[in-house]
Amino acid sequence: MHVIRRRGWEIPERFATPEHLVLNRRALLAATGAAALSLSPKMALAQRISDLPDPTKDLYPASRNEKYTLDRPVTDEKINTSYNNFYEFGSSKSVAKAAQALKLRPWTIKIDGMVETAQEIGIDDLIRKMPLEERLYRHRCVEAWSMAIPWSGFPLAKLVELAKPLSSAKYVRMETFLDPSIAPGQKQSWYPWPYVEGLTIAEATNELAFLVTGAYGKPVSKVQGAPLRLAVPWKYGFKSIKSIVRFNFTDQRPKSYWEALQSAEYGFWANVNPQVPHPRWSQATEELIGRNERRPTLIFNGYGDHVADLYRGLENERLWA
Ligand code: MTE
Repeated sequence: MHVIRRRGWEIPERFATPEHLVLNRRALLAATGAAALSLSPKMALAQRISDLPDPTKDLYPASRNEKYTLDRPVTDEKINTSYNNFYEFGSSKSVAKAAQALKLRPWTIKIDGMVETAQEIGIDDLIRKMPLEERLYRHRCVEAWSMAIPWSGFPLAKLVELAKPLSSAKYVRMETFLDPSIAPGQKQSWYPWPYVEGLTIAEATNELAFLVTGAYGKPVSKVQGAPLRLAVPWKYGFKSIKSIVRFNFTDQRPKSYWEALQSAEYGFWANVNPQVPHPRWSQATEELIGRNERRPTLIFNGYGDHVADLYRGLENERLWA
């Protein structure tokens, strides 16, 4: 019998690297110094891929959609990227340095569950398919502080369109990466990893629900949830899940990370309401981070015109945190 013995680099077409993993050779050479040459070939490749300049950098700054305006100045970028919640990298606000361990490429998004066809798509292919724009959004954390951020990205509705959910799907459940080897917080087994969040399909297709790929006119930073994070500005900040790897369409209401951890304090809807206190503190006002200022919090964080209709008839549900 004649057996064809392939050498390592002679792989059959069907095993060839998918388009989203193919590296631009020039970018690769530009990004790698002689240092990488001293590593083993496998390690060097991994190192080179993660060190590449962002392959979608040319798309920023995206043009601003003037429809979304602020009632306060944009938070200084340095402040925004040094006061964060990203429990995968620790439970303090100073996680920016630890988050640098996050490897952003290759990054594959899985879309599955109750959809016409499950699919996996590389982040760069996804971003290039989508209409990027910049939006100024307020962000209100359940801890009673707020910021204002120029996000870039695309409507979550566009991803739902791409996913083609079945009519029986009622929710989209989103998941953050799971890799305790780079995220020390994920070694703490009392937390329900991976971080999970969910929205109804009606919420996900509301025009305000936004998938963030950039901030401050460039690709979004690691600590802010690169390469893909959610922004749902009418809800408490914990709903805005970072570093997403999976969108699962389902008819079961997803149990979010915080709900799984502490259901007496955090629920599914988590809409902002200054009149409904958190069990341990008031939600009536918020501290504008970096501005030394407190302001009254607005119902739906001031976005009621866009979203209040989503909750008509649901008054008996626990809509507020
Ligand atoms: N997503 C993941 N994966 N892990 C987190 O710890 N924290 C949430 C949300 N998304 C969190 C997350 C909380 S509580 C808030 S307030 C925002 O991210 C913080 O976003 P920021 O650091 O960009 O301000």
